[in-house]
Amino acid sequence: MTNIVTAADKMAELIEQDSLILPFAGRFGILMSFRDKSIETVCREYDIDVSMFLCLLNTYINRAYSPEISECRFMPSDLIPFLKNSHDYFLEAYFGELGALLARIFDSRTGSCHDDDNLIIGFFETYKREMMTHFESEEKETFPYIASLSAATMSDAGRERHRALYGESGKEILNDTHYELEMKISDLKSLIIRYVTCKHMSADIYNLMFTAARFERDMHNHIQIEERVLIPIARMIEKRLKNTYAQQ
Ligand SMILES: [Fe+2]
Ligand SMILES: [Fe+2]
Repeated sequence: MTNIVTAADKMAELIEQDSLILPFAGRFGILMSFRDKSIETVCREYDIDVSMFLCLLNTYINRAYSPEISECRFMPSDLIPFLKNSHDYFLEAYFGELGALLARIFDSRTGSCHDDDNLIIGFFETYKREMMTHFESEEKETFPYIASLSAATMSDAGRERHRALYGESGKEILNDTHYELEMKISDLKSLIIRYVTCKHMSADIYNLMFTAARFERDMHNHIQIEERVLIPIARMIEKRLKNTYAQQ
């Protein structure tokens, strides 16, 4: 899908073209009942800012799309529930499913494949821990900072509270592990393809590959939203805030 999605586009047609849009919408709390509804109608039904939904959706599905950050009318804190839901989904749907599939495939009695020296399971467990640490640091440090930053733009009291908590220079928003976390999904896939040996092929081994591939694409898109929308808007607000401090 390369075209820019607009408010008039039909939700069902978009999901028909790219099934990952269904869990994307689910992370906003949108339930299935699409019929012929446009994006605008669905957003209105769920009280979702349509400009924010479109900005995130286009960033999510279209690598060539660059959101015009200075025109974004929503607060970066508005993205936090969506991002937290994405984290929960990644842990439950992808790590949960991949872990269960790996356990079945490599079961020493009933499994159909062999994992030499626990290479795949070991890599997967380390990766899962790293991902959980990343999500935890975003939820405990980055998101509260961004919520405070957003509140600082809404009232004098919010601004003073933010200054008291983080000082005039603010807090560094770290995104240095994103690249590594993305690379490791590809590495997991490569390790499975190259080093797993099977006595016979099963639906589980195919599902393992399909789930890993879906996870890779979903995670890439999640990171795009954080790096191309969340962090640039936060930086823009920080800049404005510093100007305000300087004028006081
Ligand atoms: Fe995240
Ligand atoms: Fe992240």
